[in-house]
Amino acid sequence: MATIDDPHVPKRLIAVHNLRDTATPLRTLRELRQAGRIRYVGTTTSFPRQYPDFERTMRAETLDFIQVDYALDSRETAATILPLAADRGMAVMINLPFGRGRLFQAVQGKALPPWATSFDCASWARFFLKYIVSHPAVTCCVPGTAKVDYLLDNLGAAQGRLSDAATRRRMEEFIDKL
Ligand SMILES: NC(=O)c1ccc[n+]([C@@H]2O[C@H](COP(=O)([O-])OP(=O)(O)OC[C@H]3O[C@@H](n4cnc5c(N)ncnc54)[C@H](OP(=O)(O)O)[C@@H]3O)[C@@H](O)[C@H]2O)c1
Repeated sequence: MATIDDPHVPKRLIAVHNLRDTATPLRTLRELRQAGRIRYVGTTTSFPRQYPDFERTMRAETLDFIQVDYALDSRETAATILPLAADRGMAVMINLPFGRGRLFQAVQGKALPPWATSFDCASWARFFLKYIVSHPAVTCCVPGTAKVDYLLDNLGAAQGRLSDAATRRRMEEFIDKL
């Protein structure tokens, strides 16, 4: 039987999207994992109305990872789903880290605050992404990156220092005041 740590198992990850008939596809995905065809099994959502069901699924199922929305101006999952994932030992992939581009509109025409240099941040995209990946429960995030310029900018968030807890609070206050 293949295990999650087996180096011969491809590093494929498949999720049940938006809690659609979750139990049945999860069973199939676990069979694929057991057969060594995939490595990680999870579920996703980006809809607040699904959060209660999502949490129930996280408590009832053993999942390798979850994917959920979280952005500097949309932090509801940080109070509920992210700590639960940490408690349950589930990796966390964040979708919609820019709130579908909403955050860029919020800061349009504004300069980065000078204290952004304290975490090696040179663009708004990196400001938003470093906030996400510095959350202790977050494993990675998947920003929409349709242009090469965006790709280079967004990848830059993986370099240099990350925001610490005090700076994360400052970032929240900054965005909340806009
Ligand atoms: N339930 C789920 O599983 C679920 C639900 C929703 C999304 N997702 C996933 O989440 C990921 C992100 O979704 P998303 O693209 O809709 O939302 P997003 O990452 O929050 O926002 C992407 C938008 O931000 C702007 N952007 C990106 N990089 C930028 C940069 N460096 N500088 C300036 N603007 C930048 C672009 O807007 P412009 O194109 O207007 O310039 C882009 O369309 C995708 O992989 C998606 O499949 C998953």
